[in-house]
Order: sequence, then structure tokens, then C-alpha cells
Amino acid sequence: MITGDANNNVTDHIFEKIGYNLHKRPDHPLGIIKSAIEDYFDETFGKDTFTSFDDLYPVVSAYANFDSVLVPPDHVSRSANDTYYVDAENVLRCHTSAHQLEMLKDGATKFLVTGDVYRRDSIDATHFPVFHQMEGVRVFEKEEWESKGVEAVDLARDELRSTLEGLARHLFGDVEMRWVDAYFPFTEPSMELEIFFKGEWLEVLGCGVMEMQILEEAGLGDKRAWAFGLGLERLAMVLFDVPDIRLFWSDDKRFTKQFEAGMFKAGGVDMRKFKPYSKYPPCLKDVSFWLPKDAEDGSNLFSENNLCEVVRDAAGSLVEEVKLIDEFENKKKGLTSNCFRIVYRSMERSLTDDEINTIQEKVREDMVAKLGVELR
Ligand code: DAH
Repeated sequence: MITGDANNNVTDHIFEKIGYNLHKRPDHPLGIIKSAIEDYFDETFGKDTFTSFDDLYPVVSAYANFDSVLVPPDHVSRSANDTYYVDAENVLRCHTSAHQLEMLKDGATKFLVTGDVYRRDSIDATHFPVFHQMEGVRVFEKEEWESKGVEAVDLARDELRSTLEGLARHLFGDVEMRWVDAYFPFTEPSMELEIFFKGEWLEVLGCGVMEMQILEEAGLGDKRAWAFGLGLERLAMVLFDVPDIRLFWSDDKRFTKQFEAGMFKAGGVDMRKFKPYSKYPPCLKDVSFWLPKDAEDGSNLFSENNLCEVVRDAAGSLVEEVKLIDEFENKKKGLTSNCFRIVYRSMERSLTDDEINTIQEKVREDMVAKLGVELR
């Protein structure tokens, strides 16, 4: 635990990830995708029209993370089940949108912010509690819509759409796209861009016209803006054929040597893809238990996210997946039983029975001590 604060739920395993800055490594797939996006903005708007920030510290105030972008007071993302709290007032940012208001207040009007973001979540091949996002914001002056004789929001929305469609083509080549209505507290209208890639509709990014309240708070009440946010891992996984999100954290040469700055080609066409080296065997462990009863206020120590945190803390990057495989209620006892399957697998080597048994024993002990379950 990084502080003794009662509200702290940042485990050592998570805290250790601060400062890795994978997005700042030019030869790392995340750094390569980041550069490809920055290049697109340079080509489209002129070199350095958009200023890039990738050095903003991931510990931010809960105000910046939530209130500054109008996340409602009762929104689930504020819960300690979803967000890492350093103490009651400070969090590990769960999105790069946390920086919108401060950047606007600092006078930035066209900018990209890339950074590591942190979310408590379930565990599988596409979810890791630390990942990377890129945020883009563009502010319009009154003259821009007046000289064109159009409504401010229409100008912002139209440029947003064409800019991001262009970005999707820059990344994915000539693909089919569609816009889907969405909801974000910080934009209105809000939408998501999906592309049809390798036989599937894939969500690429969220975006919208910035809520006026944010601009007013920044002293820019006479302007308009658009904003977008996207996840770099998701893009890098599909573009480079990386099968497991944990690989991005690997310093195994068999992974790192396959990537280099400048290798990116739109849509991955004629681009070298990731060639998996041998896949090591998984080790499966099931754990069955009775859930604790709800507390008087209806809360429960057990949640899937809390279980994943316990497993993550004991196993680090050796856990591949945690999934519920059975659930039933014993009416007489008034208790619910769950069985979870934990899949352990290293990206780099074969695991030994001994080391997994030791980890699994720690998981079982922590489940009793921290989650209040009764093992069966
Ligand atoms: N912050 C959003 C997320 O993490 C992504 C996002 C959506 C950012 C819309 C934006 C936006 O700036 O306008 O899911």
C-alpha cells in the first residue's frame, strides 16, 4: 500500500507501474501508435499546431478526475471498486480527460495528452489495470464559426467527425466506419467511432463537443471545442496482432526486438506483425467459496474487481484470466456460492507447480482476510 491512508486501495503491484511510461518509448508498440497519431495531427493541421503532452503525472485530485469533467456525484466510476484512491481526495487518473480543464486554464487550445491510466477491473487478455490513453482537444474562436456563417456546435461537430475519420484511415487504411451515439458527461453531443476490421466492428474512440460548463470554468465561455479520447493498447493489439495485453509490459527481448520506431504502416498493410514465440502452458486453479453476507448498508466486501485485485497482488503479471464458472444459492443457509477459475500463465517461461501453489495459497488466505469469504 502506498500510503497508510484508510482510503488507499493502490496495491504495490499497481504503484510500481508508475513511471514506466511505455508510451514514451519510441520503439514500443504504444509509443509507435502514439507517434503515428501525432504525425497525423501534424500532417492534417500543420506541424506542431497540436501540442503534445505526455509527461503529466498520473496522480491527480478526485476533483480533476471527476468533477472537472462533470462526472455526476453518484457515478459508479467514483467508487473505490472502480478507481484507485491514494487517499480520499486523490486518485490514479482513470482517464486522460482528467487534464482537460487544467490544460485549458493554462491556455492550451489545440493539444494531445497521452498518459498511463488506471482502473480496477476484471482480468482477461484485453484488460490490465494500467493502460494508456490519448486525449485530444481543439478550441474554436468565435470568428471561425461566424466567418463561415454556421452554428458553433455544427462547426465543431463536423470538424471533429472529419478529423477522426481521417485519423481512423491513417491508422487502419481504407476501412468501413460508422458513428454510434454515446453518452459522456463532458460532451454533448457525444459519439463513438467504430470501424469494420478483420470481420468485426471495433470501437476506436469516444468523442464529442465539449460541454460549455467546462469552457466557462476555464474562462473560455465565448468559445467552443471538441474533444476525443482513445485507448492505445486496443489499437496496438489489433494493428500489430498482439494477443495478450500483458505483453506490452514484457521486457523479454523476443517481444521488444520485434518493434522499432517508424515501422508503422496504415492498416498494418505490408507492416511486420508480432510473431508469437512459443506459448507456454496455462495452469488452472479453481476456488469455491461462500460470499460474505451484505453489511447493513447493503455493501459487500466481495466483488469481482476486489477478487481480481487480490489475485493481481499475489500473482503480478502471471495471471491471464479470472472468470466466474459457477454460482448458486443455498436458500436454507441464505448464502451464495461462487466458483472462480484462475488461469495462470507466463508470457516468458513455463511455470512450476510449486510457485503456482504458493501464489494460490496466498490468494486463498487473502480472500478470507480481505474479502470476508468462507472457502469451501
Ligand atoms: N474519457 C473517456 C473514457 O475514458 C474517453 C473520452 C470520450 C474522452 C469522449 C473524451 C471525449 O475527451 O470527448 O472512456
